[in-house]
Amino acid sequence: MDSHRTVAAPKKIILDCDPGHDDAVALLLAHGNPDIDLLAVTTVVGNQTLEKVTRNALAVGTIAGITGVPFAAGCARPLVRTIETAPEIHGESGMDGPELPESTIELDPRHAVDLIIDTIMAHEPGTITLVPTAGLTNIALAARKEPKIVERVKEVVLMGGGYHTGNWSAVAEFNIIIDPEAAHIVFNEKWPVVMVGLDLTHQALATPEVVSRIAALDTAPARFVRELMDFFAAAYKDAQGFDYPPVHDPCAVAYVIDPSVVKTRKVPVNIELQGTLTLGMTVADFRAPAPKDCTTSVATELDHERFWDLVTDALVRIGDPQASTSSPEPTQRKDALTGSAQ
Ligand code: BDR
Ligand code: CA
Repeated sequence: MDSHRTVAAPKKIILDCDPGHDDAVALLLAHGNPDIDLLAVTTVVGNQTLEKVTRNALAVGTIAGITGVPFAAGCARPLVRTIETAPEIHGESGMDGPELPESTIELDPRHAVDLIIDTIMAHEPGTITLVPTAGLTNIALAARKEPKIVERVKEVVLMGGGYHTGNWSAVAEFNIIIDPEAAHIVFNEKWPVVMVGLDLTHQALATPEVVSRIAALDTAPARFVRELMDFFAAAYKDAQGFDYPPVHDPCAVAYVIDPSVVKTRKVPVNIELQGTLTLGMTVADFRAPAPKDCTTSVATELDHERFWDLVTDALVRIGDPQASTSSPEPTQRKDALTGSAQ
């Protein structure tokens, strides 16, 4: 082994989410991947009310055995609009399917916006990536409350939008349309924004093969993911005619872990706030070349196999935190799964 090889420090992220089946997978991926240093988890109204998504986030943290990471609740409504939730996709609890444990994690007393600001201001500039996988209310408010965070954040890698399709209207995606004013703030600040939108996340399908591979791990977190995916698959089939559900949110985390898993292209993106048919559209300008001061990129292509390898490896690393047995190393376990014992 080369003793001079430098090992890159794990990437520091704050996950701002609304669990949410796919948010849960994003949280498990962030916690279970050794290249991620999860600094904080914050919640915001979205897939369900703030109270429900916060409870869900704490339950996922409990299942994953997360300790020492602050969880804080944020905004209970969008900046301007009335609350819109997504029970047709995520159920009445926001994470229907599995039975949820009582949380063993205590909620941080701070508002999520303050936790986000405190965390960014306490770290070296350029070291923290914000990963929002929900409406952008908390992130926009944090930028307004403490503008200094904008130049200190390394980048914002968000799940939201889409440059050729919508899911909540013909042209708008849920996370953007539920708080388009907040999205407008986030996309127009001078920090780099990577939009991991539907163009990309519709490639992240939880096929039966993917789900069986996860189920074969047979740990409590893996069973939890399987049960989440069972509900998610049925909901996506009924509501949007998908054969397999697109697991959006962990794609943003995967990009932070390994940008080669998600191809991107630099293009100006802005948010439509006026249109009667196009409210919340992420309008991407593909005319080349992108202006020199362009700060936005869009995700275009996913390496499906490597993406699901990352998720599976994270679950292997997490193991069975509530059981006393330790889990084998990810590669050993994967070999066992594919039948090639070593
Ligand atoms: C996004 O909306 C939410 O329902 C999902 O959790 C994801 O963040 C997909 O449009
Ligand atoms: Ca989400």
